[in-house]
Amino acid sequence: MTTLRMEEGAHAVLARNDRGGYTVPTDRLYPFQWNWDSAFVAMGFATFDVDRAYRELERLTEGQWDDGMIPHIVFHAPSDTYFPGPDVWGTRHRIPTSGITQPPVFGMALRHVHEAALASAITNAETRTKTLFQAALRSHRWWLEARDPDGLGLVSILHPWESGSDNSPAWDDALARVPTSTTTTIRRKDTGHVDASMRPRDEDYQRFIHLVDVYRDCDWNPKRQWAKAPFKVADVQMTAILARATADLMHLAETLGTEGDKAELAQMHTKLQDGLIRRWRPSLSRFLSLDLISGNDIETPTQAGFIPLVAVSLDDAQRGAVMAEIERWLDRMVVGVPSAPAFSHAFEPKRYWRGPVWAVINWLITDGLRLNGAEDLARRIEQTTVRAIENAGFCEYFDPTTGEGLGGDSFSWTAAAYLVLSGRNRLVEGR
Ligand code: GLC
Repeated sequence: MTTLRMEEGAHAVLARNDRGGYTVPTDRLYPFQWNWDSAFVAMGFATFDVDRAYRELERLTEGQWDDGMIPHIVFHAPSDTYFPGPDVWGTRHRIPTSGITQPPVFGMALRHVHEAALASAITNAETRTKTLFQAALRSHRWWLEARDPDGLGLVSILHPWESGSDNSPAWDDALARVPTSTTTTIRRKDTGHVDASMRPRDEDYQRFIHLVDVYRDCDWNPKRQWAKAPFKVADVQMTAILARATADLMHLAETLGTEGDKAELAQMHTKLQDGLIRRWRPSLSRFLSLDLISGNDIETPTQAGFIPLVAVSLDDAQRGAVMAEIERWLDRMVVGVPSAPAFSHAFEPKRYWRGPVWAVINWLITDGLRLNGAEDLARRIEQTTVRAIENAGFCEYFDPTTGEGLGGDSFSWTAAAYLVLSGRNRLVEGR
């Protein structure tokens, strides 16, 4: 299919998943507004409809809590095709939301949308950006206060779903300590929409819901949750995204923020960058997350180890090592970067977050490679990603060994990634 037809297809996916100013990831399997999905989707919209891109972010902030947290799901309208719904979360915001969060791509998206607005000269852009900037700043403050109370320069997840890489083998040991008992009755819906072999096991689902029960019993109070959490991981993927989003907010603050905002963001940024740099492990050529309950490094190889490239400048030795390691992960893959490498005992090319490729992860990794001067490798990964989408469609994720499209179909963030990544490659080819 031609790029033009594919772009029309991507627009059609976003239109089909539009529920009135916000976009569901895909119909039925994920029928609400998801936090980081919407941030990527906003950047996709910015390629052809900047007003709609702003709307996506604005509607997400309708779910923002008074303490600054932007929840991982905003339940704008009811649906009975998803579990756990608002009754299980039992949160008390003006509109129903989940009680946990997701990677703060929001700040990155805001800069992207703002720059698209400047290029298209739409009216009110500055006012809209300013309001969203304040929402982002409040959420970054929440991150540092609620999720790095000990000042490590690393933010923690209290639930695997917060990471966005819900079923990653990186969480296996930490999750194994979480009891399977639940006070909530589990009524899984996901396995009714996609093949159970691609989804988490029942036992893991019980642990996921056990965590929800614990935090709901803490009344969703961050301090109480921190004290009670049976799962607490200082995550390099999350910290890197937060650091990068902070840098993007610093950029916006140059023209739209106060001196105080600028100083506060700069301080956050330094702290997070320092925290990340300490997580580099030369023997593994990756950055490692830290299990705060066991005190151990999490060595299991996953894509998260490369995400800090979006936030830190590597030295020459580190750059060479990361590039060689990524090449090793790409070896014999039809499409990379796999979420777990084929040489790992945890590798399952079809089960989500245990091997498959995500277009949005490649978007982050290629941004990070470019920022670190690895243009050719970045372009190669982008091109294979674009080709995988052209061959298999706008699927949720892809089998790296075959390129087969898996999970849900007509997926919003895959459509958004196509628009952005194919646009970049066209620009490069047209040079
Ligand atoms: C899955 C993914 C998560 C994503 C959500 C909606 O839960 O693991 O990252 O946000 O689906 O697409």
